[in-house]
Amino acid sequence: MRTILNGKSIVLGVTGSIAAFKAADLASKLTQAGAAVDVVLTRSAQEFVGVATFAGLTHRPVSTGLYESNSELGIDHVVLARRADLVLIAPATANILAKLALGVTDDVLTATVLAGSQPLVIAPAMDAGMYGSPATQANVETLRGRGVHFIGPESGRLASGLVGQGRMTEVPGIIGHLRAVLGRNGDLAGRRVVVSAGGTEEAIDPVRVLTNRSSGKMGYAIAEAARDRGADVTLISAPSALPSPPCVTLATVGSALEMRDAVQSACAGSDLLIMAAAVSDYRPANPADQKIKKTGDDSLIIELVQNPDIVAGVTGDRLVKVAFAAETNNIIENADAKLLAKGVDLIVANDITAEHSGFGTDTNAVTFVYPDREPEQMPLMDKFDVGNALLDRVLPLLN
Ligand code: PMT
Repeated sequence: MRTILNGKSIVLGVTGSIAAFKAADLASKLTQAGAAVDVVLTRSAQEFVGVATFAGLTHRPVSTGLYESNSELGIDHVVLARRADLVLIAPATANILAKLALGVTDDVLTATVLAGSQPLVIAPAMDAGMYGSPATQANVETLRGRGVHFIGPESGRLASGLVGQGRMTEVPGIIGHLRAVLGRNGDLAGRRVVVSAGGTEEAIDPVRVLTNRSSGKMGYAIAEAARDRGADVTLISAPSALPSPPCVTLATVGSALEMRDAVQSACAGSDLLIMAAAVSDYRPANPADQKIKKTGDDSLIIELVQNPDIVAGVTGDRLVKVAFAAETNNIIENADAKLLAKGVDLIVANDITAEHSGFGTDTNAVTFVYPDREPEQMPLMDKFDVGNALLDRVLPLLN
């Protein structure tokens, strides 16, 4: 899986917070994603973490001081500022926020930020009192006003043992945010995209539901692919164990009827709907108010009524609609029939009997089925790559 981080140059500034140890994981994950990560440690950061750790993880020199110029870099802050696609400061202390707001440049990190014009992303980490103080809040507002992107801080248990807002956002959240910032001018910039995911749950009684094996992975991967290309993404998800994708608007629903309402309202003014959700075709006609008790009978009959077809029912002036078709046999014929019946622009036919494909897997083997040309069979790919391949094919329809 190749994301927008691949081949990017990122300066990772680490400042003196107990959360500095998490920056090692961050540097490692960014490097594994194919980014060239230049780490800058402030003097106080070096009280918490060391040069060897970051040099080892990134395979690159680490900058520590304005007057300890790194032989490979020349004048560190000028070179770093010129080549970076993005500067990330994680963790960022109250002190660095104050210096950045004032334009103080007494170390490599502040000098790099001042010398550069690339996006600056800041993940603060500090005591809740320090974060909430009028001085820090004023500095945050000043920096936001200059277009700086803030991630967190989150609320929770702090190093002091107190509970409050000051925890650095966890690494996956920071990475998702970076991808969104790097992709903000992508080929879907200015587009509103709605994606559905997961398997709907139809109540039988307060305890039991009718559902299916969808994990949500396919829809979540499409949502992230669209976000990384600059789209404003709304993800309508049936219950799923997956974490909420950063910089995506998430609406969680239960039943098909709830999903229909959420999809209809999100589609108003949107450009694209991709229905990756596995929607229950039927629901119990009369869900019980109380838990159904076991009786002496050998069988229990639950009457089902049909759910509305969500994708067929959604309309919009300029809405392009894509449906999936989860099939076990006659894949293309069945997908063709759904293309017509649902009035969609493209069907992603999904052979759920193929190995490593369909429900719960990280990969998928799909065939794009068009109204006006031959089907296009894709190889087995990571679900994120399937999302990108799909968006590549949808893009001309949007234009
Ligand atoms: O979530 P994962 O574990 O990653 O699995 C991915 C997936 C297998 C669920 C996904 O790739 C997939 O194939 N999703 C569609 C599953 C499905 O319900 O297919 P279907 O053939 O029953 O429905 C056809 C299309 O109509 C789908 O886009 C569905 O969202 C939509 N539909 C179905 C019923 C209904 N009442 N309203 C709808 O809009």
